[in-house]
Amino acid sequence: MCYHGTPVNIIVGSHVWIEDPEVSWIDGQVSKINGKDAEIETTNGKKVVASLSKILPKDMEAPPGGVDDMTKLSYLHEPGVLQNLKIRYELNEIYTYTGNILIAINPFQRLPHIYGAHMMHQYKGAPFGELSPHVFAVADVAYRAMIHEGKSNSILVSGESGAGKTETTKMLMQYLAFLGGRAATEGRTVEQQVLESNPVLEAFGNAKTVRNNNSSRFGKFVEIQFDKSGRISGAAIRTYLLERSRVCQVNDPERNYHCFYLLCNAPQEEVEKYKLGNPRSFHYLNQSKCYELADVSDAREYLATRRAMDIVGISQKDQEAIFRVVAAILHIGNIEFTKGKEVDSSIPKDDTAKFHLKTTAELLMCDIDALEDALCKRVMITPEEVIKRSLDPQSAAVSRDGLAKTLYSRLFDWLVDKINNSIGQDPNSKCLIGVLDIYGFESFKSNSFEQFCINFTNEKLQQHFNQAKSQTTLHTSSLLIAVFSVCDMIKSFTCLLLTA
Ligand SMILES: Nc1ncnc2c1ncn2[C@@H]1O[C@H](COP(=O)(O)OP(=O)(O)OP(=O)(O)O)[C@@H](O)[C@H]1O
Ligand SMILES: [Mg+2]
Repeated sequence: MCYHGTPVNIIVGSHVWIEDPEVSWIDGQVSKINGKDAEIETTNGKKVVASLSKILPKDMEAPPGGVDDMTKLSYLHEPGVLQNLKIRYELNEIYTYTGNILIAINPFQRLPHIYGAHMMHQYKGAPFGELSPHVFAVADVAYRAMIHEGKSNSILVSGESGAGKTETTKMLMQYLAFLGGRAATEGRTVEQQVLESNPVLEAFGNAKTVRNNNSSRFGKFVEIQFDKSGRISGAAIRTYLLERSRVCQVNDPERNYHCFYLLCNAPQEEVEKYKLGNPRSFHYLNQSKCYELADVSDAREYLATRRAMDIVGISQKDQEAIFRVVAAILHIGNIEFTKGKEVDSSIPKDDTAKFHLKTTAELLMCDIDALEDALCKRVMITPEEVIKRSLDPQSAAVSRDGLAKTLYSRLFDWLVDKINNSIGQDPNSKCLIGVLDIYGFESFKSNSFEQFCINFTNEKLQQHFNQAKSQTTLHTSSLLIAVFSVCDMIKSFTCLLLTA
């Protein structure tokens, strides 16, 4: 039997790990060996027969409180690693190293004592590994390498959906702002703008899913630029793969993007201005019965998002335009079609559909007839002529949804551009620290093509960063943080091995 290429002797009396369908791995002691099989008495009182090739040795000398760096484990195999993480998690130690990789387990509760200002002061300049494993220590290494060696760095935050990547990314950014921030003179500082870009992006790019009430439905790479003296001088946010399908199709008990619910819960005069109302009255929202999030007030979040937009530097006029498009998308979704007079043609179904068509045209400031034409007809351009063909009601609904998705993804890209222009880049910056908050891995019973693209992109990105790490010529090295939520730890483990 081999693990990490080393053969191990399993004899009667050996303490071992075997796979268990319920708890993933269970430990026990070998009581008999018959040829290629072993009989094991497990610690939960069962007798199990398993093939010797499936049995892994258990380290009986491991410290009872676990180890803070898993390279210190005698056996760096799956049950050994999981056991170590479990022991530490039970002792409220959510961070553990494997060499220079940080593994974070989602605590699912606020832990202000480990992220406060005093902790930031402690980790500042402390040699890596001297203090308990922490996300600040990783950011500190990146910052110091940049200052002392003039080296740009990227920190890759990887893990399954709901594991805690975005929260970890925010901590990293907060710590970098602490290290490289300057005393606020007047107005907004770059680091304030960078930090406040998070709630703005989350309002438009995050949604409640089965796994996470605030799931990022896009990938994000934030480049924080520094000047010669190590102060933050600019930033750029790059996003990829926004989940467009969510705009028109939401599965119960998930929600559409937060911004739709925020706007429906805005102050009364805003709701009236955009002719909105109860989210239950909109097709793009009422496909799921979930409208509210536990412990979150959409009305308060709306105001917080507007404030964050102010800080980031988005003008009132632009904010108005952004929410006009958000409202228009809700109205577009309510334009239903019925058969027109001609064969295979369509027209708005009734007065309600006409009302939503008219409101959409008003909000988008476009011609109502042109909008109806765009939805109910298809234009085909051939070398000889331009052909306009009517669409049946079903096809018109498809083109309606296509318009909504394109409008939303363009709005999102435009918003990211706006944030970038407002924060500003530093053309003279020689060093930067990049933080990649990947689009969380997800695996369903039946996976869509979109899911395939997300997982494939993540794998590719991870490989790209790992290669960058081994190529010194790239002048960029990368650090890895793998985050797990406890319930997903077993499944997520593959991801850790892949990247380690
Ligand atoms: N370090 C932490 N401290 C406290 N709570 C946390 C921490 N990390 C994660 N959480 C909790 O877990 C939830 C999910 O975390 P987060 O949104 O960061 O997941 P994610 O990995 O970005 O998922 P997705 O891929 O779906 O975007 C957070 O809303 C928060 O409640
Ligand atoms: Mg996230």
